[in-house]
Amino acid sequence: MIKLHDLYFKPFISEQEILDVVTRMANDIANDLGDEIPVFIGILNGSFMFVSDFVKKFPKPCEVTFIKLASYEGLKSTDDIQRLIGLTQDLTGRTVIILEDIIDSGKTLAEVHRIFKNENVKELKIATLFYKPEAYKKDFKLHYVGIEIPTKFIVGYGLDFDGLGRDLPEVYQLKTTQHMTNIVLFGPPGAGKGTQANFLKEKYNLIHISTGDVFRFNIKNETALGMLAQSYMDKGELVPDKVTIDMLAAEVEKNADANGFIFDGFPRTDAQAKALDDLLDEKDSEINAMIALEVNDKILVERLLERGKTSGRPDDADENIIRNRVKEYYKKTAILKDYYKAQDKYYGVDGVGSIEEITQRLSKVIDQL
Ligand code: IMP
Ligand code: MG
Repeated sequence: MIKLHDLYFKPFISEQEILDVVTRMANDIANDLGDEIPVFIGILNGSFMFVSDFVKKFPKPCEVTFIKLASYEGLKSTDDIQRLIGLTQDLTGRTVIILEDIIDSGKTLAEVHRIFKNENVKELKIATLFYKPEAYKKDFKLHYVGIEIPTKFIVGYGLDFDGLGRDLPEVYQLKTTQHMTNIVLFGPPGAGKGTQANFLKEKYNLIHISTGDVFRFNIKNETALGMLAQSYMDKGELVPDKVTIDMLAAEVEKNADANGFIFDGFPRTDAQAKALDDLLDEKDSEINAMIALEVNDKILVERLLERGKTSGRPDDADENIIRNRVKEYYKKTAILKDYYKAQDKYYGVDGVGSIEEITQRLSKVIDQL
């Protein structure tokens, strides 16, 4: 992911893919032209990189020149096309091929046709590397199209967002969701996850999604997914990942404008971690960190026994049960630790100390994401 000015862009088309397309276009055009020496005309600024690669791949002699037009401001095409540098040579009787980086609404192309109306060229052909068919509003024929793309703003390989991004050798697409901070919060029972999640969600304005709460909410309110989950539980079966993920997806959807999410109690398996990645990917987002609160067993046992005195939870009252729960936690979460470590997203945080101290340690991790 990259940031230009205040917006985020994600990788879209690789350098290699672009070069393959450029090579294919150069060969197609060379084959169609026969022995004639064409004049390639690039439309500045955006086309400089395309033209440069294109003529290097063009297998025959050719001439190259440029005209300079400007129509875009920020993310939008404007009506007013400015002719900044026009034609500087006589093209009478020549075969001219326009090389455009991108054709969007087609306004720039209309201006190109206006420029050539009285030039008496033998032939005028249009070649564009990128083309947004859903945005195109004109009838001019496009003789060669490299890659059709959806109507989304892109940068790189000559294309800019307010001046930045032209130098990138690959192409990036504007993210539909801007920056979110998504955290998977981990910790053995008694580590203080719930307490810390409450502080963090206030401090960073995040939505806390506890799978336990989501389950209880859906079952209590008898939503379709809640009833489906209940039907498995009634049979004494585990609720399938798909159902859990669908519930989470609904929760994420409900809060589509959020600054980010704290996932608590999820994922628990490799498959769930992948499903969560896919879910966030659809939102043009990702998990930024798995933060695990680290507390040694002895302190966990003490804390939970202490809680057991007032919580009335029978599983908080027995030391052996507590030790087993902790052991179970480490056994199950080891795979997830590896999963996030492999992506460089695992952060262990010392979970022993005062609540404020621990919040501060967690904040230090989040602030640097
Ligand atoms: P049109 O006149 O609407 O067809 O737009 C063509 C010009 O707009 C291109 O030459 C680019 O300069 C600019 N443009 C269109 N779409 C994009 C984009 O997604 N990213 C960056 N510039 C774009
Ligand atoms: Mg252009």
